[in-house]
Amino acid sequence: MPAGPPFSDKDDAVQPIISIRGLNKRYDSGFHALKNVNLDIADGDIFALLGPNGAGKTTLISVICGIVNPSDGEVRVDGHEIIADYRGARELIGLVPQELTTDAFETVWATVSFSRGLFGKPKNPAHIEKVLKDLSLWDKRNDMLMTLSGGMKRRVMIAKALSHEPRILFLDEPTAGVDVELRRSMWEVVRSLRAHGVTIILTTHYLEEAEQMADRIGVINAGEIILVEEKNELMQKLGEKRLTLHLQDSIDTVPDTLARHELDLVDNGHALLYTYNANDKRTGVNSLFRDLDSAGIRLRDVDTKQSSLEEIFVDLVKTPTPEPAADAQATAKDNA
Ligand SMILES: Nc1ncnc2c1ncn2[C@@H]1O[C@H](COP(=O)(O)OP(=O)(O)O)[C@@H](O)[C@H]1O
Ligand SMILES: [Mg+2]
Repeated sequence: MPAGPPFSDKDDAVQPIISIRGLNKRYDSGFHALKNVNLDIADGDIFALLGPNGAGKTTLISVICGIVNPSDGEVRVDGHEIIADYRGARELIGLVPQELTTDAFETVWATVSFSRGLFGKPKNPAHIEKVLKDLSLWDKRNDMLMTLSGGMKRRVMIAKALSHEPRILFLDEPTAGVDVELRRSMWEVVRSLRAHGVTIILTTHYLEEAEQMADRIGVINAGEIILVEEKNELMQKLGEKRLTLHLQDSIDTVPDTLARHELDLVDNGHALLYTYNANDKRTGVNSLFRDLDSAGIRLRDVDTKQSSLEEIFVDLVKTPTPEPAADAQATAKDNA
């Protein structure tokens, strides 16, 4: 948008709260886990990092959180460079790791309060109380962790991550292996956190979860961010379909009576291509067939194809990421 007032447009003007440039991660094994990642995350967004197992999701958030060292590139968290200003960056971040680790014999209250202390923050019982209430854990505050259900333990992990009042919360696969009901309650928790102004970055390998939760979605595969898009735009594109009409007899031009359908003549006049959105109420397919009939155009065959994005996504979800071996060798050679 040209010359709007400053800070008026989320995409253009506001400084991203997380900014990643040219980030690469090669593990000691030589495996190239992140490949030239560039990514901005807007303040207050729910951002879903979507990708299959082994794509690099945990590696990426571990780098941002300062747990894994980048090989090269730059990461800033609200302007704080994560290595030069590690503390400044880390202070703003809460992390709920993929694996649950809890001290079985601690109470909910003690473990969450202790987490706050780890960040050198002064005691603040009122804040801990609010966090526990927000997560529906207040009644359980004096219970030992070992007595809690899996879903409650996960919420304790979130409470720990929120104990030091972070502005950004990372949730690494918050609903992996969690039943449907619990998944829905987790989504509600995340939405209510966002309503309190917390920026949320979650990783998932469920398209549905990203669709339900996110404002923006980034798709990562084999260490590369292959797409970043507003959720609504992405969902629109996922519905895009192409209908190919193979003609009985070839034609030189599209007849005027079909002009309103925006058809492309392809295959040397042997086929017409119609692009439409399967999510739309009116796809125009019915009137297209009527008009084709009126125009005396006879069809030999038809086929439809989802947009390439859908294909990409289906591939992502179904195909396991190739094993590191080949890539690791290539990387070793590159380094030699
Ligand atoms: N410490 C490590 N050393 C070598 N390779 C690793 C290490 N940690 C992860 N990897 C590899 O990096 C890739 C990405 O892993 P990860 O970030 O955990 O993926 P995701 O979280 O998307 O499932 C995987 O192929 C994994 O085997
Ligand atoms: Mg992971």
